[in-house]
Amino acid sequence: MNAAGRDRLDRTPEWDALGRHRAELGEVRLRELFAADPGRAERYTLRVGDLTLDYSKHLVTDETLRLLLGLAEARGVAALREAMFRGEKINVTERRAVLHTALRAPAGAVAEVDGENVVPAVHAVLDRMSAFAERVRSGEWTGHTGERITTVVNIGIGGSDLGPAMAYEALRPFTARGLGFRFVSNVDGADLHEALRDLNPERTLFIVSSKTFTTVETLTNATSARQWLLAGLGGEEAAVARHFVAVSTNAEKVAAFGIDTANMFEFWDWVGGRYSYDSAIGLSLMIAIGPERFREMLAGFRLVDEHFRSAPPEANAPLLLGLLGVWYGAFHGAQSHAVLPYSHYLSRFTAYLQQLDMESNGKYVDRQGEPVNWQTGPVVWGTPGTNGQHAYYQLLHQGTKLIPADLIGFARPVAELESPLREQHDLLMANLFAQGQALAFGKTAEEVRAEGVAEDLVPHRTFPGNRPTTTILASELTPSVLGQLIALYEHKVFVQGAVWDIDSFDQWGVELGKVLAKRVEPALRADGAGAEDTDLDPSTAALVARYRELRGR
Ligand code: F6P
Repeated sequence: MNAAGRDRLDRTPEWDALGRHRAELGEVRLRELFAADPGRAERYTLRVGDLTLDYSKHLVTDETLRLLLGLAEARGVAALREAMFRGEKINVTERRAVLHTALRAPAGAVAEVDGENVVPAVHAVLDRMSAFAERVRSGEWTGHTGERITTVVNIGIGGSDLGPAMAYEALRPFTARGLGFRFVSNVDGADLHEALRDLNPERTLFIVSSKTFTTVETLTNATSARQWLLAGLGGEEAAVARHFVAVSTNAEKVAAFGIDTANMFEFWDWVGGRYSYDSAIGLSLMIAIGPERFREMLAGFRLVDEHFRSAPPEANAPLLLGLLGVWYGAFHGAQSHAVLPYSHYLSRFTAYLQQLDMESNGKYVDRQGEPVNWQTGPVVWGTPGTNGQHAYYQLLHQGTKLIPADLIGFARPVAELESPLREQHDLLMANLFAQGQALAFGKTAEEVRAEGVAEDLVPHRTFPGNRPTTTILASELTPSVLGQLIALYEHKVFVQGAVWDIDSFDQWGVELGKVLAKRVEPALRADGAGAEDTDLDPSTAALVARYRELRGR
């Protein structure tokens, strides 16, 4: 029993049953599972909105799925899901509601936090964003000297950067090509330097995106950007209002920074940073793709929200994907999960998912604060195919680690591509399908021998197979499809957190590093002021001393 009066996960009959089932399954082979069941591919494929999800190449049987769904039921995943949609404070350690689903609710819907319907406020901000986005896109919003804005620079980090940066790349064919977009996040001055070095301040608009407006990297970069702007515009403070807008929950801090709150786009503490790019944090994206496309994206999110809430468990995509991850972590020793999009436009997709998944489920204590005895969130990694194939897929195919992977692809190349680039798409997708096949079914020693390979090379050229993948296929990478994909992963992460009994919505693990950085910084300064007050361990003290030496301090 834990403090909430529930059996701990690893003490439940459902967990035990899964353990026994895993032992009975032993080294079950995907080749055998497919041979024994000609309908497997069809039965283990779901259609959700524009997405087709094939999960047949997983190391599971009907019994595995039955037991996993039983676990979800016993752990109250559906009840927690309803509590989330109802606006209950399921982020227990921050005592906050978790209502990113309200960001894409239709205008007439009701989603309450502390008895107040938040949907009208969501739509009011969306309308303000739309009006502003249209003014920038049309050239009506000008800079201080009357010049049209030609580049938008988003300054933010984590959830205030990764979402818009990822979605901007993903939806490039839908963007206003005459406008430039840059995303600055790193406190390394090189990031801002490279972003600004060829820009004209008269034509540059900064969006300072920070939920808290206290994040040191963002405020440091925003301060430097303001200096750059003022230096370029003759030091006229009045220029700031035409070149800086903010996205935040913290009007007070925005004003203290010197940005007119009339130019602030609001969101709320019930939106987690990593769940926020469909809020005002997506302002840069909305300027890029236009309000209409942005709303199409929201509709895509909504479609999967509704699916997650209403589809029966056995046909519920986020539930099944979440449970498969639980299965591999606990019963196959998997430590990581690869996300491999076969789309150049999804180059930032996995980086975005890293924060979504790892900041949400990288937890070692349960919701009651007791250490867990089971694996929680995996390491999420990956880059677009086919590039990864010529880098790390070797390990996926023949390494000693089991790494479940998602292969994501689209039937149609983006409309903009012309011949002969359009024709390359079949080759790209042939690679996706071939990888799923090779990972699942491998190549036996007998098959290698039959090709006349010398006996000493047979083991080297044998592929064990049995490497699980989910294939996610959509017709085309549109704003709606992107929304559907992101909502799918958001809810998958939710399901896993619910089963593991962890708080997926806090991120205390990032705090210590921030505090220590503040403490170390004085010791690095040129004048060395404050160095004596810094209580450094011997290793760090020696590194700091060497740093000072190398910097000539
Ligand atoms: O450091 C973690 C974090 O709090 C993330 O959760 C968040 O997305 C990021 O920092 C940025 O925070 P903010 O939007 O408040 O600047």
